[in-house]
Amino acid sequence: MSVPVVRTVAELRYAVAAWRAERLQVALVPTMGALHEGHLSLVRAALSRAERVIVTIFVNPKQFNSPADLAAYPRTEETDAAMLAGAGAHLLYAPLAGEIYPEGFSTTVSVASVSEEMEGRFRPGHFDGVATVVAKLFLQSGADCAFFGEKDFQQLQVVRRMARDLDIPVEIVACPTIRERNGLAMSSRNARLSPQEHARAPRLSEVLFEAAAKMASGADAQPVLAQARRALEDAGFGPVEYLELRSSASLAPLTRASEPARLLAAAWLGQVRLIDNVEVAENDP
Ligand code: PAJ
Repeated sequence: MSVPVVRTVAELRYAVAAWRAERLQVALVPTMGALHEGHLSLVRAALSRAERVIVTIFVNPKQFNSPADLAAYPRTEETDAAMLAGAGAHLLYAPLAGEIYPEGFSTTVSVASVSEEMEGRFRPGHFDGVATVVAKLFLQSGADCAFFGEKDFQQLQVVRRMARDLDIPVEIVACPTIRERNGLAMSSRNARLSPQEHARAPRLSEVLFEAAAKMASGADAQPVLAQARRALEDAGFGPVEYLELRSSASLAPLTRASEPARLLAAAWLGQVRLIDNVEVAENDP
């Protein structure tokens, strides 16, 4: 069993048009490949919602902050395709670079506010690259719904805002973060951790879950965040780029969990930048 692969917009639109003619619902799962269980969970969620599931693999140069990071990004299309066939995806769209950024490409989709802090502050231009490529994938595919992981919580909000602002008729569906048994959020970048770093990495989620529990029982954010930051530094993380309590809906900063909230962090472990976030239950006595 294999999954059909298309590399041009014309082929993609042809396949989708045939499904539309049969009145089938079409779901999209955008990825950059190097697939793991986190990605496959999105494919499964998509299969439970729509009759046809398209997975895209495109390592998007516009969202990388350094040429070295882009060059080091794993490219494993053959294994990815086998995993997608096993999961039951219907089509793999792995476009040629020119299908996404044809010569003379001059347009950028830039989402203000939700893009500006946290990842936006430490990775300037990153979300412009994400919003631009995701807008194109929505418009190229014409999918009814699209699946994104809470692992990249800020990205999810950026994509939601972009689709709403541009009236792209696609339903954005959020899926929970898939973790290794030790709590480490699955990520294509985890493969770059040394064995020693890999053993330390789960401390990030542990610290986040501990801090989230304190805030959910009413603690002020500031002292809890300061203590959590120290715990990460003690465990060998550094720099801790941000560690913040934010409103889940708007990403506005919060001083306590007075509404549904999220605790979000980015921290380096050796040469690898890890991000994670956890839910904080509302505490409004
Ligand atoms: P990528 O990092 O490949 O992730 C593709 C999708 O998988 C994203 O929605 C991401 O949030 C989700 N994902 C990754 N790890 C996950 C995990 N452990 N649990 C649940 N979901 C997880 O995010 C991108 O690619 C790109 O920015 C993209 C949206 C494709 C635009 O280029």
